[in-house]
Amino acid sequence: MSTQTALAPNDLESFWMPFTANRAFKRRPRMVSGAKDMHYITADGRKVMDGTAGLWCCNAGHARRPIIEAIQRQAEDLDFAPTFQFGHPKVFALAARIAAMAPGDLDHVFFCGGGSEAVDSALKIALAYWNVTGKGSKTRLIGRERGYHGVGFGGISVGGIVPNRKFFGSLLAGVDHLPTTYSRENQAFTKGEPEYGAHFADELERIVGLHDASTIAAVIVEPMAGSTGVLPPPKGYLQKLRAICDKHNILLIFDEVITGFGRLGHAFAAERYGVIPDMITFAKGVTSGAVPMGGVLVRKGIFDAFMNGPEHVIELFHGYTYSGHPMAAAAGLATLELYKEEGLFERAKKLEPVWADAMMDSFKGLPNVLDVRTLGLVAAVDLAPSPDGPGKRAYAAMESAFHDHDIMVRITGDTIALTPPLIISESQIGELADKVSKTIRAVA
Ligand SMILES: Cc1ncc(COP(=O)(O)O)c(C=O)c1O
Repeated sequence: MSTQTALAPNDLESFWMPFTANRAFKRRPRMVSGAKDMHYITADGRKVMDGTAGLWCCNAGHARRPIIEAIQRQAEDLDFAPTFQFGHPKVFALAARIAAMAPGDLDHVFFCGGGSEAVDSALKIALAYWNVTGKGSKTRLIGRERGYHGVGFGGISVGGIVPNRKFFGSLLAGVDHLPTTYSRENQAFTKGEPEYGAHFADELERIVGLHDASTIAAVIVEPMAGSTGVLPPPKGYLQKLRAICDKHNILLIFDEVITGFGRLGHAFAAERYGVIPDMITFAKGVTSGAVPMGGVLVRKGIFDAFMNGPEHVIELFHGYTYSGHPMAAAAGLATLELYKEEGLFERAKKLEPVWADAMMDSFKGLPNVLDVRTLGLVAAVDLAPSPDGPGKRAYAAMESAFHDHDIMVRITGDTIALTPPLIISESQIGELADKVSKTIRAVA
């Protein structure tokens, strides 16, 4: 580690931290200044196991040489090039590579800077698609309760997490929501996809009945709801959604910002479930978190619908300065190569039963544990709220995990989520389970 990275800042005031309890953090900071493979390193040299792959993004682990070198080389060769009306080779190579990994005819890629932009891009492409195909009345967007689709106005409108919405006015008009797929009563302590709940997809028929399919552009869901606290899809649910969308000529968008790039043992969750959506949004794991990047995979028929009119005219009036930034493209290519070389998606798939057993056996029955859910290399533990208020117990758990047990965990409300880099070893799974168990006991 360079001396520069080891320096701790001495003034925490100016940075308004995102999605953070700023005052509590600044009173007792959880600061990291280095990282390698499965661990963060604190300014005072303590190794903290990364139970969260950063923010669900560092799937290849931290500071991997091939990714670092690709970024360094790219910075020397070409720092920036516009992708509006110009191009650079790596962004085309990356698009082709991602398209080749995606199922079916999801073979065009629109790049942007992260997950929120990916979601807003997908929603805009859906609306524009119906316009260019002569069905401009199809404007409604359907999301889901407890869904997380980032923080843009499109994303929070189709999203279903109350605090992410309630402060921000009337949001987009013409949005409706499917019900959440979670029912603790019928699903608690399930490993993998729960048996109960496919019927929640039938609510789409009710929504179509209410608004009429001629007004509905698209349905967007996370195949596994992540940020709301990890809700695996009930068996058959996603297949049902696909069938209902087909029946009514509605586009289906899978938001795979978390589930893409190996988290569920496949390049995309779409493959795990044998369901081909019309668009897939991705981000995070595409560069293993090393450089910000997001994108939308689009089916051929959608892309082709735009390729009309005079050739010198822009076909889609949408894009970001940093769509397909050279550094992100280089990092993406190196990351996808690393995933392939090390077989990290297959590794996640192989480890899934080991992971599920370790999580369930370790946490079920501990004090205050109301539910444990697992899917791919993801686990969530719901804790009973403390009498001092919702979220306090999980916040205490996150603090204790970091300061006392040398692990980083992610919390949502009173849920602890675990999503380690895909390079985690079996013994590290045991270590993580053990440390989280101690943490849960510590906040009993
Ligand atoms: C499913 C999903 N969509 C969108 C986003 C937003 O991504 P970003 O934070 O990169 O804007 C996230 C972030 O966690 C996500 O989980």
